Amino acid sequence: MNIPLTVVDPVFCAIDTPDVGAAEKLAVDLKGAAGGIKLGKEFFTANGPDGVIRVRDAGGVPVFLDLKFHDIPNTVAGAVRIACKMIPYMMTIHASGGPAMIRAAADAAVAGGDANGGARPQIIAVTVLTSLDQADLKAVGVSDTPSDQVRRLAALAQQNGADGIVCSPHEIEVLRQDLGPDFVLVVPGIRPKGTDAGDQKRVMTPEEAVQLGATHLVIGRPITQASDPAAAARAIFDSLAA
Ligand code: C5P
Repeated sequence: MNIPLTVVDPVFCAIDTPDVGAAEKLAVDLKGAAGGIKLGKEFFTANGPDGVIRVRDAGGVPVFLDLKFHDIPNTVAGAVRIACKMIPYMMTIHASGGPAMIRAAADAAVAGGDANGGARPQIIAVTVLTSLDQADLKAVGVSDTPSDQVRRLAALAQQNGADGIVCSPHEIEVLRQDLGPDFVLVVPGIRPKGTDAGDQKRVMTPEEAVQLGATHLVIGRPITQASDPAAAARAIFDSLAA
């Protein structure tokens, strides 16, 4: 049977580095302390699938592969199918690739999962990048507000077989209402109380985000820059259970 992989701890640590050794060390440190790790374009471009597998195996932790695929459906399907060989827990596509592309990615995850003995990655759609404001959307021909465009693309993702979406903390509440209780909401922009917001403009604590309906939290620097990353990750998990 082809089922999505699942985790108990919702905290995914964003490892934003091209350095495979540093990523490997963090993954080892975070074993048993975080739900998983997120590897993105910078790491992947530097180290490829071998690097992903190396880090995954070093830590034995689930990997969220954040490559944000966006292309014609056939090309995205091929990329998702091949990416399944890395056995990611979840991976990202752009919902703005349209219904056929989202469906092709979801179907390819099932096919790729079957080829790997049954566990498939969750397909998570990115809606509107938080770096885009109303003027940016207008510049690419979208006259809706960012919030309306997020809701439209989130619904499109759900209707076409995606498992969930990435959203900002302030979108959790409305999207949970729109999309029902079971849709995965992966949320970056999270800061435990007392930690530095860095370049994140609107942050929320892990507890608040989960209470509002986040299913997964992407947290980078508050863990990776801590003197003891495992202790920082554990403290976040404990704060959720409190
Ligand atoms: O260090 P920090 O916790 O800010 O890292 C957050 C991670 O989530 C980074 O990998 C960043 O690229 C990613 N992300 C984000 N905001 C988004 C989408 C992704 O911060 N809207």
